[in-house]
Amino acid sequence: MRMTVPLRPLLAASFAAALALPAFAQDAKALHLRALAATCANCHGTQGRAVDAASVPGLAGMPASYIVDQMKAFKAGTRPATVMHQLAKGYSDAQIEAIAGYFAAQKK
Ligand code: HEC
Repeated sequence: MRMTVPLRPLLAASFAAALALPAFAQDAKALHLRALAATCANCHGTQGRAVDAASVPGLAGMPASYIVDQMKAFKAGTRPATVMHQLAKGYSDAQIEAIAGYFAAQKK
């Protein structure tokens, strides 16, 4: 018996997989960024939206450059803080920039 492999559907499927790959990579990147930003949620609120009357400010809609500057100041110890000076040290500059971009893009 001669085996025939249906080439056309196979090719179509592999093209579809190849096309889907960049979208999947985008999703993974977005998910990673959300997870990174979620490390701030305990204190600054889900997606940076602080609850009413919270003592910690929300980060949603805050200009990215402001967030980056504050994080760097916390990290360097030039802005005194109760907790942020310790937390900020756990993030690389690239992570801080990515997180800042995430919060700047969130609605208040
Ligand atoms: C354990 C609670 C906690 C976590 C987690 C936390 N923060 Fe904070 N954040 C604070 C507090 C409290 C302040 C006020 C400064 C201080 O006393 O440390 C603050 C202040 C800030 C400010 C300054 C806001 C302003 O109005 O000037 C920024 C920016 C900030 N945090 C960013 C972040 C980011 C980004 C993350 C996540 C990577 C994060 N914080 C995680 C508690 C937290």
